[in-house]
Amino acid sequence: MAISFNSENRIFKLDTSNATYAFQVFEAGYLIHLYYGAKIPDDNLAAFYYHGGFASFSPSRWEVENGNFSPDMSPMEYSTEGAGDFRLSALAIRNANGDNTTDVRYVSHKIIAGKPDLPAMPHLYLNSEGEADTLEVLTEDAVTGAKVTLVYTVFRNKPVITRHVRVENGSDRRMDLERIYSCCVEFPTMDYDMYHLYGRWSKERSLQVRPLAHGIQSICSKRGSSGHYHNPFVALATKNATEQYGEAYGFNFVYSGNFAAEVEVDSSCSTRLIMGINPESFGWVLEPGSTFVSPEVVMVYSNEGLGGMSRAFHDVYRENLVRGRWKTEKRPLLINSWEAAFFDFDAEKLFAFAERAKEMGIEMLVMDDGWFGKRDDDTTSLGDWFVNEKKLQGGLKSLVDRVHGIGMKFGIWYEPEMISPESELYKAHPDWCVHVANRANSVARHQYVIDMSRQDVRDNIFEQMYGVLSATPVDYLKWDFNRNITEAGSALLPPERQKEFFHRFVLGTYELMGRLTEAFPDMLIENCSGGGGRFDPGMFYYSPQIWCSDNTDPIERLTIQFGSSLCYPGSCMGAHVSACQRTDIDTRANVAMWGTFGYELDPCKLNEADYEAVKVQVKEYHRYYNVTHNGDLYRLITPFENAHRAAWMFVSKDKSEALFTAVVMRRPEYEAFFIRLQGLDPNAMYRDEATGEVYSGALLMNAGLNLTGTPITDGSSFTKYFTIVK
Ligand code: DGJ
Repeated sequence: MAISFNSENRIFKLDTSNATYAFQVFEAGYLIHLYYGAKIPDDNLAAFYYHGGFASFSPSRWEVENGNFSPDMSPMEYSTEGAGDFRLSALAIRNANGDNTTDVRYVSHKIIAGKPDLPAMPHLYLNSEGEADTLEVLTEDAVTGAKVTLVYTVFRNKPVITRHVRVENGSDRRMDLERIYSCCVEFPTMDYDMYHLYGRWSKERSLQVRPLAHGIQSICSKRGSSGHYHNPFVALATKNATEQYGEAYGFNFVYSGNFAAEVEVDSSCSTRLIMGINPESFGWVLEPGSTFVSPEVVMVYSNEGLGGMSRAFHDVYRENLVRGRWKTEKRPLLINSWEAAFFDFDAEKLFAFAERAKEMGIEMLVMDDGWFGKRDDDTTSLGDWFVNEKKLQGGLKSLVDRVHGIGMKFGIWYEPEMISPESELYKAHPDWCVHVANRANSVARHQYVIDMSRQDVRDNIFEQMYGVLSATPVDYLKWDFNRNITEAGSALLPPERQKEFFHRFVLGTYELMGRLTEAFPDMLIENCSGGGGRFDPGMFYYSPQIWCSDNTDPIERLTIQFGSSLCYPGSCMGAHVSACQRTDIDTRANVAMWGTFGYELDPCKLNEADYEAVKVQVKEYHRYYNVTHNGDLYRLITPFENAHRAAWMFVSKDKSEALFTAVVMRRPEYEAFFIRLQGLDPNAMYRDEATGEVYSGALLMNAGLNLTGTPITDGSSFTKYFTIVK
């Protein structure tokens, strides 16, 4: 078991592959955090209890430590509102009599083998029960009857713990949940840097690093989706941590809606981190006997720097988050029609794309936006999910049959959570869009959001989609989401439950996605939200890949892909070669090879040289598939630290092959270029497949590659593929 409870000192000890997490049932049932860090064998960890003792303006509990205890000065395992702790609270409940004081104390616990599923929400799952154990600690507010269960799943062979919280109204009066964060983690010092990923449309997930400072530092979304602007990821790393060295604690929220991650450094220079649903746009009515379950946070500990943290996230997401046939099966190499044609296509044009792409070895044609209703631009038809036969003469099935007939797969685009004011659906059901009474809706991209919190709306959209997809054997679906939510409200919710809208919307989307994946288990789904606006672990549960960004410029893509890789594996990052002229087609392919790989250009317009280059790239895609999709990533030179070059490599799990890539963003001032590789077997010999030269892993990692004199023009790039010499 990865979890133990010492009944003498009442300490819980949670042991992952490399870390120990410990907390104690303290006097009067307070849960006190003790330790989170590198693994330690001892189970008497009480000495780790650090607290500030008495301070004049920090309220004390006289029954605890003879009055020397203040929740305000102690590392609380799960902080609550109003009962003596003035720092960030993870839980706040408005009680029946109107106050919002919540004070929960330990009641009981159970340790169970395995990991129970989270109801109706994405979560990490186990492949076998022995992979992890779960601790559930029941606490209760003796005055209000709120029962709060803290749930921890501890992976035995991975550096991973997941956490979530359940709140049950154990009283006979209504309660209003005002905030429920999924985790609260305490650190005894403030000697950390905070890492997070910020951005905007077309520039998602750049890395921000800042030293912790006194006060609160936070990131959040209140857009109704996780959004382009901040990713639900945050890490605390020891000062001067690098890709290889130092400790890093990563937190990633398995949720696709409004989130917040907040870090507070208090007066005693200790740090509290909480992560969960953004309380600013949330509330939940808890009737007597009802329960609310929070989404899950994934926590990773690394003592091998940021790189170790990222590889741990990649492994657990590939193995315990992504599901279905395409988790392991090789994904088809696709070409997408969007940048090639936008809305301007018909069946003949698409078929011509397919034929030309097929000649080059591409395996699937994806028909993007524009095939339904009267959609010739972005002003109409979302919600009218029937085929536009003016464009697809002969119907969808005839096109799909023709494409299948030449041995290609076929993919289709949907935006199920949206409705155009200019649509038949909206005319029939104006109350089906997200809106609030007596207030005009904001538009974005000429569209409204459809009310996914409503079962009747979801049923309609599902039936429309099912009608098309069951009549036509489609192999792939791109699920898009092109605006955020304003005037948030549902026609069906009573006033006191309108605050539940955002969370209900997200649960509704998950339900629809779940129904679709069950109805079409073989269909590959790629998520998208105007590029990477909903690039979060919640979505990866339903779709093994997400379009990373609408920005397909290979140089701009570097920060996007480096940032995304902090916690998301390349096998999930949608990346395509486009017609972008910033670099030659080889650099575009070398960058896209990091991700799922594919094309986003008009194959009929390729010149002869690029046409031949694509054929070579297709071969390389197959050759490198195992190492890029299943291997370990090492970020060697990041564009956040170096304005001139970026470099990264993948090493297969058995260390028998490695793919190294470097891109020159801007010509460096100097010519010498030595780079040390990482992750190889130092005792093995590796052949550079291009030159036939053989080097030891030790040489490549210690002396490095001497790449002086390699192409250094702006936008140039090169790869090196190494295989082990048997
Ligand atoms: C936004 C996506 O990111 C694009 O790839 C494309 O699918 C468009 N939407 C279509 O409207």
